[in-house]
Amino acid sequence: MTIDFSAPHQRLRFNTPLSEARAQQLLAFVAQRATGTVVDVGCGWAGLLLRLIELKPTLRGLGIDLSAEAIAHAKTLVAASSAGAQIDLLCGDVKANLPAEVQGAICIGASQIWGSPVEERQPLAYAAALAALRERVKPGAPVLYGEAIWSRPPTAAAVAPLSGRLDEFVSLPDLVDLAWQQGFALVQAHEANQDEWDEFESGHQAKYADWLAEHGVDHPDAAQVLSRAQGQRAAYFRGYRGILGMAYLCLVAV
Ligand SMILES: C[S@@+](CC[C@H](N)C(=O)[O-])C[C@H]1O[C@@H](n2cnc3c(N)ncnc32)[C@H](O)[C@@H]1O
Repeated sequence: MTIDFSAPHQRLRFNTPLSEARAQQLLAFVAQRATGTVVDVGCGWAGLLLRLIELKPTLRGLGIDLSAEAIAHAKTLVAASSAGAQIDLLCGDVKANLPAEVQGAICIGASQIWGSPVEERQPLAYAAALAALRERVKPGAPVLYGEAIWSRPPTAAAVAPLSGRLDEFVSLPDLVDLAWQQGFALVQAHEANQDEWDEFESGHQAKYADWLAEHGVDHPDAAQVLSRAQGQRAAYFRGYRGILGMAYLCLVAV
């Protein structure tokens, strides 16, 4: 049975734990170094790409995402922006649609594009993602790469609601090494703080609150909604909170 929840863009700024202030810092790095076209792979509803082009309207933006719902919302945001004419949005698989060359790239929480399907529960494909991005840019081009990491050594309770593996993610020092190994130099390293995580996770969990407030706890589907809400809050608050982290690396191709 499918239950209709409110779309994530109604509750979240970005589909990643990221404050507006940190987003502006990261985008200033890309804007300062990029010319030409910047691609955002797995752009979601293109919140970052839109801010980037508003910051530097001489750039062109290309956002690609598999989710028709996210791209539809991105199109409404882009249409309402003065920078909208500078942005192309494409609903499809990045692997089939990524141009051979771009002058900058954003890849946030989207390394799985170059890995095995999530259901296979393999370690995240950081190296493959970094290599694919590096292949598309010339030396000097900026790449903003954001990905999940272990902020602290994972516990059994933390990994259980994720892939169940201790090696699904790497630590920040290991991720930085991987970026250098794949042909990038690090300019800035950021890690999402607890407030950014709590805001992000609460934003995802608020879909249950929205649904229950609209339909009531006597609705025939309410038991299922309550059970899913319980599972998700246990996964975070009793599981990976403070252990699963998110790194944002400002990289330059070398
Ligand atoms: C964690 S979300 C991040 C969204 C966005 N980068 C942001 O920061 O708001 C990952 C996104 O990657 C997209 N995605 C996953 N696999 C993809 C693929 N093969 N091609 C295009 N998009 C993909 C998902 O639809 C999702 O929107």
